[in-house]
Amino acid sequence: MTEFPGPSAPKTAVIAGIGSYLPPSLVTNAELAARLDTSDQWIRSRTGIATRHVVSAGMATSDLAVEAGQRALESAGKCQADMVVLATTTPDRPCPATAPEVAARLGLNGVAAFDVAAVCSGFLYALATATGLIAAAMANRVLLIAADAFTTIVDPSDRSTAVIFADGAGALVLRTGAADEPGSVGPMVLGSDGDLSDLIEVPAGGSRQRSSRRLPTPGDEYFTMRGRDIYRHAVQRMTSASQRAMAAAGWATEDVDRFAAHQANARILESVAGRLGLPAEKRLSNIERVGNTGAASVPVLLAESAADNSLTAGQRVLLTTFGGGLTWGAATLVWPDLKAITA
Ligand code: UT7
Repeated sequence: MTEFPGPSAPKTAVIAGIGSYLPPSLVTNAELAARLDTSDQWIRSRTGIATRHVVSAGMATSDLAVEAGQRALESAGKCQADMVVLATTTPDRPCPATAPEVAARLGLNGVAAFDVAAVCSGFLYALATATGLIAAAMANRVLLIAADAFTTIVDPSDRSTAVIFADGAGALVLRTGAADEPGSVGPMVLGSDGDLSDLIEVPAGGSRQRSSRRLPTPGDEYFTMRGRDIYRHAVQRMTSASQRAMAAAGWATEDVDRFAAHQANARILESVAGRLGLPAEKRLSNIERVGNTGAASVPVLLAESAADNSLTAGQRVLLTTFGGGLTWGAATLVWPDLKAITA
């Protein structure tokens, strides 16, 4: 059971561990081109993606989340957690939340566990939630997992989404600490625009278009995206959120050592980084190999970058995300000294 001791002196959340997991099965552009009206050249030039990891039959989001969660707990010194927060767009089932099952499978049965739904911004929304709960002394050590199995909701015959989306999970352990410690989560910016909720949606299966034995519109159980509109909003929102987060942290552009943005599309990333004035050597990216893994995108990127030393202790990191809702966010932090576990 998680106990809530009530208000006390302000606390800060500090990153104590990080891990990630990608399912072993790999899909190349050539494999997609063999069954869809697309080409390796189109996918590479329009998205920057060459391969993506996908879940195998029977593998669910919780399976990815447990793997990443285990790695993050090990990275933090095989510690326990008193809360599990799972950001996901693809829960194992519409009901109940997936986090309690993940907690139980990680040996954390009994702690508070809940899902956060903010599509590809889910990681930053969950980070804000976990940070807030630590600051309010309602948790001491939070396991934050962001996991998505997007290929389970993408229409395999829709070339505009099937070439982009992929599966994976990233996880952090956040502990109570001090604001001046490396790894402390700095100022964050979050936003939403629900007037544009139909730009990214799964139309059926919720309370609007209810579960039924026959969907009124076949195919409505699949994820849809108005790509061109989303592209434009992604660039605008990630740029402005990043500027606001930097201003809140008192950082100038030159202060940013590493830029970790939601790996939506390589052209979007270039555009946002260009507008922010961040040169190529400061931009972290794994989209070519990993694709767009939804909520998992940024934590997987951070874990892989820390593991291969393209992100090192003491570097100032700017994070930004954008997703359906619409939702977006940005945050700053100084990277801590830890061993990321990705394999
Ligand atoms: O993670 C959450 C947020 N998601 C995003 O940020 C994704 C944002 N959007 C995108 O990344 C891009 O809009 C896409 C990659 C989805 C599409 O790229 P685009 O450059 O915006 O292409 P478009 O939608 O403007 O389509 C251009 C053409 C169209 O054909 P016509 O109408 O010009 O004849 C599409 O039908 O490309 C066609 N097309 C394709 N052709 C070959 C769309 N998908 C494909 C494809 N292969 N896979």
